Amino acid sequence: MSHIFNRRSVLGIAGGAGITLAGTGSALAKLAEIDIEPRGSDGILERLPTLDLESYDEMSTSTRLWIDTKLTKAAEKRALEIMAANGYGPDDTVPRDTAIAMLKDDPIISFRNHTWQRLQKHMWNALRNEFYSNYDAYMSEMESADKTGPGVLEFNPGIEPEYTKHEIHMQPGGYTGDEFAGHMYHYGTNNFYNGRNYQDEFHTSLTRMIPVPADGKVLRILDMGCGCGQEVVTLKKRFPEAEVWGVDVAAPMVRYAHMRAVDMGYDVNFRHALAEETGFPDGYFDIVTSYILHHEVPEQATYDIIHEAARVLRPGGIFYPIDFYTSPGRSAQDGRAWRRIRDWMTYRWNHERWLYEYQQADFEGEIRRSEMVLNRDEAKDTMTYPVGRTKSHNIMGTKPV
Ligand SMILES: C[S@@+](CC[C@H](N)C(=O)[O-])C[C@H]1O[C@@H](n2cnc3c(N)ncnc32)[C@H](O)[C@@H]1O
Repeated sequence: MSHIFNRRSVLGIAGGAGITLAGTGSALAKLAEIDIEPRGSDGILERLPTLDLESYDEMSTSTRLWIDTKLTKAAEKRALEIMAANGYGPDDTVPRDTAIAMLKDDPIISFRNHTWQRLQKHMWNALRNEFYSNYDAYMSEMESADKTGPGVLEFNPGIEPEYTKHEIHMQPGGYTGDEFAGHMYHYGTNNFYNGRNYQDEFHTSLTRMIPVPADGKVLRILDMGCGCGQEVVTLKKRFPEAEVWGVDVAAPMVRYAHMRAVDMGYDVNFRHALAEETGFPDGYFDIVTSYILHHEVPEQATYDIIHEAARVLRPGGIFYPIDFYTSPGRSAQDGRAWRRIRDWMTYRWNHERWLYEYQQADFEGEIRRSEMVLNRDEAKDTMTYPVGRTKSHNIMGTKPV
């Protein structure tokens, strides 16, 4: 268990940008006066504003790590026992409804699923309570950053289709419906990453994997569904000369992303826009990427996004989508009962409304049907997903020259 307690020992190794306000102009100096950081920062992560909340975060992150490892193992063992008692081998394919009926009420499995779920809900509420209890201060901080460079922040009110209004992950208001969605998502996902992404380590590792076009030219990069901008910032760190953009359908997400990037002193740009319709000219980008976007949109939206990526890429440009099944050997069609109950938990209880559609989508086929050629990267680097899953390759689309 020592890694639970040592996880902050990585502080400062990956980011190191800190807040570079000195000498960068009066607008940033003004922001420094408003910047809410009563307890300072650990590396690039602004500490939570109260000891109470930080202690809560420590508790929920540690508990979640325990659930994701020890408790999950115990629940899986239990599932295999129940399956055996019902005449199924561990690798047998079981219809979804059969698997759910067979496993959902077992106390260990249910405890695993619902402590995970309750903890997540509890965490959102604790964070939300903090931001709304100090509404004026947090809102003033964002308002001040809205008008501050170096990067651009663009809003397009009213673009949100109905499907983006679900409370995915049970996040109150979802991505689009709560003014502090970006704040909540950033601190909340530190839980999801089991405390191993406080310094954007995870985004740094996946940015390292992204291949460059064969001619080596990387002048402009787009990250679709950029959330609170962690990938956008790590892309800028890797390609400091490039013009980097993040688009997201949720205004509160890009707003927080912009504020965070300004705080960190990065010249990156955010646009409140649909990934299906980014508004950029044809052939504008050398690289288009996305990270865990597709499992959160309907099947048709994924297809539309693939075609939009093809449109905005220049000949030779690369589309590099990263999601749960974009690496070889990770099948969306895993019909084992234990897998089914976990997917059901994610779909039904964690409100991942579009997960099943993503699982059945012909992602690779649609890349082939777009203007792109489907291939796999030759990346040597690996990245580690939360909870120890490692992958070394990913599919990609290349726009023919
Ligand atoms: C799971 S989050 C991933 C965020 C980010 N890529 C990261 O590294 O954390 C999915 C993001 O996609 C955004 N999103 C969902 N549908 C979208 C769409 N059609 N166009 C653009 N963004 C979308 C959500 O608002 C959310 O910020």
